[in-house]
Amino acid sequence: MKIFLIGFMGCGKSTLGRKLATKLGYDLIDLDHQIEVITGGSVADYFAVNGEEVFRKLESDTLKGFDYPKNCVIATGGGTPCYFDNMDWINKNGTSVYIEMSPLALAKRLEKGIAKRPLLSSLSEESLVHFIHNKLEEREGFYHQATITLNGVNLTADIIRAELLARG
Ligand code: S3P
Repeated sequence: MKIFLIGFMGCGKSTLGRKLATKLGYDLIDLDHQIEVITGGSVADYFAVNGEEVFRKLESDTLKGFDYPKNCVIATGGGTPCYFDNMDWINKNGTSVYIEMSPLALAKRLEKGIAKRPLLSSLSEESLVHFIHNKLEEREGFYHQATITLNGVNLTADIIRAELLARG
């Protein structure tokens, strides 16, 4: 089974993905990390040098071209489901789990790491919630195509596992 975790930056995809993979005995594939392996640098640097359009193409190619093991958890990037036909591809190739969170909750989790995130680096802490609110509105249509949607507040790997089991 391939389990794709999707959701906005800061919702916990990588951390929950690691815990879920450990519990299930599956491999964890972190898409941003795979991109960093390919480019030999950070996503932030790649974004800064090449721009978003080039990054989105590489992200899509990496998502679709990776040689996934049969059973794995994939932590996607926050924008991954929202470009090209990536969300359709995800749903054709696995089970998707949307980790949903409000703009305020996301802003609280993201405020300390603004500088490291290319889409946030030019924002002030005050404009962060507003930016997230707008971006989330743009992206929700994609995120809500997920097989399973779970509230990210107090979400644990056990809860995700139970939901996956309940759905067979
Ligand atoms: C992005 C999210 C990031 C990374 C890139 C773009 C986005 O991943 O892929 O900076 O567009 O939301 P995380 O969601 O893992 O931070």
